[in-house]
Amino acid sequence: MKIAVIGSTNMDVVSYTDKIPEAGETREATGFHTACGGKGANQAVAAGKLGADVMMVTAIGDDLFGEKSMDNFLENNINTDYVWTATGVANGVATILVDESSQNRILIHKGANACLTPEVIEDAEDALKECGLIVLQLEVPLETVYAAIDMGKKHNVPVLLNPAPASKELSIEKACLCDFFVPNETELSILTGMPTNTLEGIKAAAQTLVDKGLKNVIVTMGSKGSMWLTKDDYLVVPAVKVDAVDTTGAGDSFIGCFVENYSRTQNIPEAMKEASQYASLSVTRKGTQDSYLTREEFDKLKK
Ligand code: ATP
Ligand code: RIB
Repeated sequence: MKIAVIGSTNMDVVSYTDKIPEAGETREATGFHTACGGKGANQAVAAGKLGADVMMVTAIGDDLFGEKSMDNFLENNINTDYVWTATGVANGVATILVDESSQNRILIHKGANACLTPEVIEDAEDALKECGLIVLQLEVPLETVYAAIDMGKKHNVPVLLNPAPASKELSIEKACLCDFFVPNETELSILTGMPTNTLEGIKAAAQTLVDKGLKNVIVTMGSKGSMWLTKDDYLVVPAVKVDAVDTTGAGDSFIGCFVENYSRTQNIPEAMKEASQYASLSVTRKGTQDSYLTREEFDKLKK
């Protein structure tokens, strides 16, 4: 089954530090690297590394970062028929600071991602209607996300929406048309206006979305694991205990693995357990896509 990921491509410019600088302060980084990122690209690459048949719909920059991003898709066996180069526009860039506690702060420059218009979704209609799953996030214009949801509905292709980064502008009515809604705790709190600092709070907030018509709400909860809620089901999958060094892109690795597994098994608890293991291994390694294991590596390490 083919998976379409419609979303962002960034170049991640990452510095590691013992302490995040205060305003006006200069500090020396303990490490640095640039790597391919962006929530859409990360999810596509995680699924692709695990062996899924993935097509990417994205806009890349007319610059060296854009070229590097295209090479990266090809290296990871991702179909690039709908990877567009935005003429005269820079690639998306994420400036990332990771502190000693493995937490990150991210500043996004959208660049070419802002050029991914609803027309691109129309152009890709023939390919999208052959897919078994459409995967979306919120680093591209909202009208494009809505066009992709409508396209999925038109052709009965299930849609998974990861509402990241959090946006209060997201229409919950549109989100409810999706088959899977996968926020983290912060995104869930911002969207529902409810506290999500306890399991009970998360369940209550997710329940409001189910009450509004969402079929499957899966909340990722960092080191607390993940929660699945539907009209009839409730499941918490605990996180695997690991020493985290860099959690950047953990949510993307979870989703990439989830969609790869679900597209083969159609089994949500099974896909969540697998995704939980995959994401836990990603946080033990530095980087985003660099921390994602291939199928061979994952099969050797998973329990
Ligand atoms: P990001 O925005 O950095 O991509 P996120 O906030 O979207 O991450 P999280 O909820 O932090 O996503 O993490 C996704 C999944 O990764 C979790 O559900 C869990 O399975 C795994 N995970 C994250 N952090 C840890 C950790 N410290 N230890 C073990 N597993 C973790
Ligand atoms: O989710 C992690 C991603 O968020 C990074 O790769 C960065 O590009 C930002 O989009």
